[in-house]
Amino acid sequence: MELVSIPGQGAKGKVWIVGAGPGDVELLTLKAYRVLKQADAVLYDALVSQDILDLIPQSAEKIAVGKRAGKHSAGQDEINQVLVTKAYTRKNVVRLKGGDPFIFGRGGEELQTLAETGVAFEVVPGITAASGTAAYAGIPLTHRDFAQGVTFITGHCQLQSRPMDWQGYANPNNTLVVYMGILNAEIIRDGLMSSGRDGDTPVAIVSKATTASQQRFIGKLSELSQLAADPALQMPALMIIGEVVSLADSLNWFNPQEYSAAPIQSQVGI
Ligand SMILES: C[S@@+](CC[C@H](N)C(=O)[O-])C[C@H]1O[C@@H](n2cnc3c(N)ncnc32)[C@H](O)[C@@H]1O
Repeated sequence: MELVSIPGQGAKGKVWIVGAGPGDVELLTLKAYRVLKQADAVLYDALVSQDILDLIPQSAEKIAVGKRAGKHSAGQDEINQVLVTKAYTRKNVVRLKGGDPFIFGRGGEELQTLAETGVAFEVVPGITAASGTAAYAGIPLTHRDFAQGVTFITGHCQLQSRPMDWQGYANPNNTLVVYMGILNAEIIRDGLMSSGRDGDTPVAIVSKATTASQQRFIGKLSELSQLAADPALQMPALMIIGEVVSLADSLNWFNPQEYSAAPIQSQVGI
């Protein structure tokens, strides 16, 4: 798609690509909060929590571009087009994304468009789902006794275009975090086990992490597809696979029932 630019006129605004974190409003960075408060227009994804959307100023134009089951969502070309168009007419344009924009968030792709069309931009990182989930589910992603490394992968498993490196992901001394993997739980289980990962490896699926609706589903790798098929499981959900998950019960501190979003405005004097 060809992007609109207005002849003889440069973009007057700037675009901030901002990570909103995994859900808990208090996990927003101070910089993200400040940038959001100064926004004239905000394009936001479906994963951004309502508590965070409530921080957008009344005066700002709010544009939902996220994917929600069964409803129309803007395609990437359309989002790129709106971002560039808004930068021509508004001063402070915020592109608000769940988690961190550079981790399975297409932040890079959107920045490439801005760079190509000469629109100024900044990036504000956010807490990615893996970090938020691990912290609130009591599962350290690395631990000297269990995992020397951690790998984040997408569970979309686009097998034809880019084959999954199951051999690499099956390393027993490594924690594997799978984003967007729930629908492919069986493929993930089979891929890892056929590459030598033990079926008894502890796994956790954590849904709606860092929110009052957080739920943990804990079991073994051989049971991954049964855990993923649990009718109580809500989206979004993340898988953590590795020996570190054996700590989940002893390090569990977060009680979703007791969670209530703090009135952030009164805490932050910005
Ligand atoms: C398109 S990716 C976006 C990831 C995001 N950019 C990040 O850094 O967290 C969406 C996936 O992130 C994971 N995710 C995001 N928020 C989550 C949450 N609160 N709880 C569990 N998983 C979450 C899920 O695996 C979901 O399918």
